[in-house]
Amino acid sequence: MYTAKVMDHFEHPRNMGEIENASGVGTVGNAKCGEIMRIYMDIDDEGISRDVKFKTFGCGAAVATSSMATELVKGKHIEEAMKVTNKAVMEALDGLPPVKVHCSLLAEEAIHAALWDYAEKKGIKIEGLEKPKSDIHEGEEDDDEY
Ligand code: FES
Repeated sequence: MYTAKVMDHFEHPRNMGEIENASGVGTVGNAKCGEIMRIYMDIDDEGISRDVKFKTFGCGAAVATSSMATELVKGKHIEEAMKVTNKAVMEALDGLPPVKVHCSLLAEEAIHAALWDYAEKKGIKIEGLEKPKSDIHEGEEDDDEY
């Protein structure tokens, strides 16, 4: 069901943990499956993310996507970090089963939430960044496929 890369990142998650006094912290949840993902980013004066860490209380796919997402963002400029979409994370993992696609959305939203927090603290605006949701199902109707 899972690709070798997903299994690898699930079994050996990269960048797990937290950053004290992080430049930006973003937390996103999914009330429907009860997952919570938090991303910490340490961003320098040039806008480069020097360090990225995550904590995920969630399923294996959520752990693997957070791990891969932090790898993709680390060392990149915030403009590049903005391009780390859930699609990019899924591609880097060689795909996810359809029922697990929402887990990767959590990673994208958590990065955006951390960037939003950073921008607010700095008093800057990041091109293309919108106020993140605290739950990926926010604003949706309740009677969907679940
Ligand atoms: Fe909901 Fe993975 S985040 S099942």
